[in-house]
Amino acid sequence: MSNQLPASNDNPAMTSLDERVTELLGRMTLVEKIGQMSQVNAADDTIPDNLREDIKAGKIGSVLNQVNVDIVNELQRIAVQESRLGIPLLVGRDVIHGFNTVLPIPLGQAATWNPELVRKGARVAALEAASTGVNWTFAPMIDVSRDPRWGRIAESLGEDPYLTSMLGVAMVEGFQGADLSQPGMIAACVKHFAGYGASESGRDYNTTNIPENELRNVYLPPFKAAVDAGVATLMASFSDLDGVPATANRFLMRQVLREEWGFGGFVVSDWSSIEQLTVHGISANNRDAAFEAVNAGVNMEMASTTYADHLAELLDDGQIDIGLVNEMVAGILRLKFEMGLFENPYTDLSDFPATANDDHLATARQAAKQSIVMLENRNDTLPLKKESLGSLAIIGPMADDPYEQLGTWIFDGNPALSQTPLQAIREALGDSVKINHVRAMETTRSRSTDAFDEARQAAEDSDAVIVFLGEESILSGEAHSRANIDLPGNQAELVRILHETGKPVIAVILAGRPLTLANIVDNLHAMLFAWHPGTMGGPAIADILFGAESPSGKLPVTFPRMVGQIPIYYAHKNTGKPATADSFLHIDDIPVRMFQTSAGMVSSHMDAGNTPLYPFGYGLSYTQFSYADISVSKKEVSMGGRLTVQAVVTNTGKVAADEIVQLYIRDLVGNVTRPVRELKGFTRLHLQPGESRPVSFELDTSDLAFYGRQMQLITEPGEFHAWIGGSSATVLRAEFTVISE
Ligand code: NOJ
Repeated sequence: MSNQLPASNDNPAMTSLDERVTELLGRMTLVEKIGQMSQVNAADDTIPDNLREDIKAGKIGSVLNQVNVDIVNELQRIAVQESRLGIPLLVGRDVIHGFNTVLPIPLGQAATWNPELVRKGARVAALEAASTGVNWTFAPMIDVSRDPRWGRIAESLGEDPYLTSMLGVAMVEGFQGADLSQPGMIAACVKHFAGYGASESGRDYNTTNIPENELRNVYLPPFKAAVDAGVATLMASFSDLDGVPATANRFLMRQVLREEWGFGGFVVSDWSSIEQLTVHGISANNRDAAFEAVNAGVNMEMASTTYADHLAELLDDGQIDIGLVNEMVAGILRLKFEMGLFENPYTDLSDFPATANDDHLATARQAAKQSIVMLENRNDTLPLKKESLGSLAIIGPMADDPYEQLGTWIFDGNPALSQTPLQAIREALGDSVKINHVRAMETTRSRSTDAFDEARQAAEDSDAVIVFLGEESILSGEAHSRANIDLPGNQAELVRILHETGKPVIAVILAGRPLTLANIVDNLHAMLFAWHPGTMGGPAIADILFGAESPSGKLPVTFPRMVGQIPIYYAHKNTGKPATADSFLHIDDIPVRMFQTSAGMVSSHMDAGNTPLYPFGYGLSYTQFSYADISVSKKEVSMGGRLTVQAVVTNTGKVAADEIVQLYIRDLVGNVTRPVRELKGFTRLHLQPGESRPVSFELDTSDLAFYGRQMQLITEPGEFHAWIGGSSATVLRAEFTVISE
């Protein structure tokens, strides 16, 4: 068993940090060490006596869920002044997409494809949270998520390892800044290590079985990127990975995280996930559970108390040795030193700007605006021209619901701050346009059609109809998975009757996940997908509807036609019998008693084909972009060398707009089969009408690396394809070859 403290390096500041850790550890009793490894819920409005006593006795290293700055300061005071060694507390909170100011859900933020904006959003969240004394957030969630049934896809950054890595790192940087000891910086925690997004059938907490090759190529890269970017902590996943729950998984936390990646921070369990090892059936009791978790390298236990209850016995019985405990505690102390908590554990509210100030709201509005993906726009229905509108029907359960537009995980969100679409549309239009507003459904799940006649009438009385549909917040998020991802309740019927009026019908969908929209799409003239857009959702949507800005969001996740296609994602393998657009036979076209093998022997669903409704990377604009002249700087690149792939993008339409230009590659032959496409670069451009701009992406041959059969990261010589375009379905292609030196 290891008894090593985190390795020091040549940096004198780091060395002194290590020295401080070693010196403090040397003075700690076993009870105090185990105390540092224990995190308790402290959500009450007052400090319970037992919590006060435990902190005083050095039995608590961290609290979570307290956001009253006076209480947090008092907890810190007890820790620093009344405990023997005066070790300050880590104060954790789920600051997932904003704090008082709520930004779009992370999946919506991912649709911005804008790391700078994501970083800025995390900074806003960190500042607001830090003003209450919170110094640690359990975010970002960087679980690659390819199953829209899974409620937690809302918290994710989508289906792609590269996009998730880029945006996950941006969030970490936004929370932590360059120096964690600076005011307003909070420690980040990437979660859930690892593979949680692969929960079978999208049912939360469900088993995952991920072959090591897929784990390394798809699920782990965002965590590696975050570790390389200096993330302070990781959270172990609730899920069971190949028969060993993540919380007890030595392969993940010892071999990969510490040995291969050299991670020097610490790992926290998920809520009672150590205790739950007995429920999983991997340990017989809490003592064994504590043994499994500490042995695997979980430094701190959240909520349950198996460490506090059993680590001392495990030591007495010689099952673990003190070196292991020291190692676990050192990681925690190190972060506390690094954060400057020993120097100043207290928070002075007056050092911080007010929460939800104009700047913060402006960032939230910008993020919401850039997150909106336009899925349809027949006959240029959008943007609506204010001047030519006499009246407008605003229909639907999500048009004016300050709470539901915020989405999941908004512990500190304040619905009273929300600006709803109805309010924003009224403001944008003033008195010149008559608004006919009908909620039509009490909630998104309502089945009653009682108010549908009124909705129809409002549509008939108006020049155009905007219907605000989607899912209420509670339908996504932790433990809120769905097996049917159609619009719930009678929303499709509402769309149908609005369509019957013959008026242009524009749907704006506010939801926490991709939905199956095939049953409404033909009844719409235009459709915006706005996710749960947060506090400033209303103004952001109004900006897009009336053309103050063109939509520029692109899907960070594939939208299936129907649920049976799941998992469906763009970076799939080719298979030995790939389908082409015309090679599958639709179930309705198959002649009766057709000969078994004559139905097109390809990988496809007879009732859905092999394409999604909307692919990854897709999103329309009020202008058009054309792509041309793709080229590579070298046709042959030596191993270890670099090349650029470039193309010219032109705004061929009539308005200025942003476009997210995407680079995909394919490695044609691999030691293991490679995806048909992989995202390797993206950039957001702003182009005036008629403007052309060359865009180039630099690739190093190491960017083409993957884990092969021996689980080693390799770039192989051979042929590659590269595409540049506005979605994963782009066809503009170049080729190059990697040659061995
Ligand atoms: C359980 C969730 O899985 C995790 O993501 C969250 O951070 C913790 N609870 C703490 O609330």
